[in-house]
Amino acid sequence: MDIKELATHFRAPAFPGCYFFSFEGIEGAGKSTQIIKLKEYLENKNFRVLVLREPGGTVFGEKLRQAILNSQSPIHPVAELHLFASSRAQLLQEVTLKELGVPNTVIIYDRYIDSTIAYQGVARSLGIETVMRTHLSFPLTLTPHLSFYLRIPADLSHTRQKMRNAPKDYFEKQGDNFYDKLVEGYDRAAEIFSDRIKTINGNQDLELVHQDIVARVESLLTQSQETSDL
Ligand SMILES: Nc1ncnc2c1ncn2[C@@H]1O[C@H](COP(=O)(O)OP(=O)(O)OP(=O)(O)O)[C@@H](O)[C@H]1O
Ligand SMILES: [Mg+2]
Repeated sequence: MDIKELATHFRAPAFPGCYFFSFEGIEGAGKSTQIIKLKEYLENKNFRVLVLREPGGTVFGEKLRQAILNSQSPIHPVAELHLFASSRAQLLQEVTLKELGVPNTVIIYDRYIDSTIAYQGVARSLGIETVMRTHLSFPLTLTPHLSFYLRIPADLSHTRQKMRNAPKDYFEKQGDNFYDKLVEGYDRAAEIFSDRIKTINGNQDLELVHQDIVARVESLLTQSQETSDL
């Protein structure tokens, strides 16, 4: 199976009137900032909005999060991949699918499968196919209706991180081109899942970023409305 064929196994959950979105991009791209703004926008449209973050969100996921945080030795990329997939499957089953059953719900993930493709698949060199194959069983085959990839260059990530007073040695711990590889990973994910992933220029005023996102969301809502009117 090649990558395009693997991609056909993934699809968005079908709960009429409910939506699943994800935000993707390297550190400092503006995900948290834009999630807050989109949540507020959707709540004003009377949606019930839940924001989720992996690993965690379930008792099992929290244990996995602690396992990563408390690890005394480096975690192998394969272990990391499966750990994220485990936490993801549990969060999808226990929270996402259950909550999407409630009318007018929007679930927003702060990072999802495209981050796994970028981090474990490309930056940690496991390969995009390996990441996709790990996700071939339900519920891991579920994808968002739309994913917003906030694209910024690696050096802007560094600048924004410094402004945010992140620990100084953080970037030094990573290889020199680690962030360039991450950007390459997200770019490749955006090519593979070109219908789902909307690449947004994250290097512009945050109000303009928000407007770009809202335009994509509105176009999806109109399209869904037209389909349900048929
Ligand atoms: N469009 C923008 N222009 C300028 N600064 C921005 C913009 N968007 C976000 N920022 C600032 O950049 C920093 C990082 O933003 P944010 O925390 O939203 O990124 P993130 O993608 O959630 O990062 P992380 O992956 O580390 O959680 C914050 O200080 C935020 O205020
Ligand atoms: Mg964030």
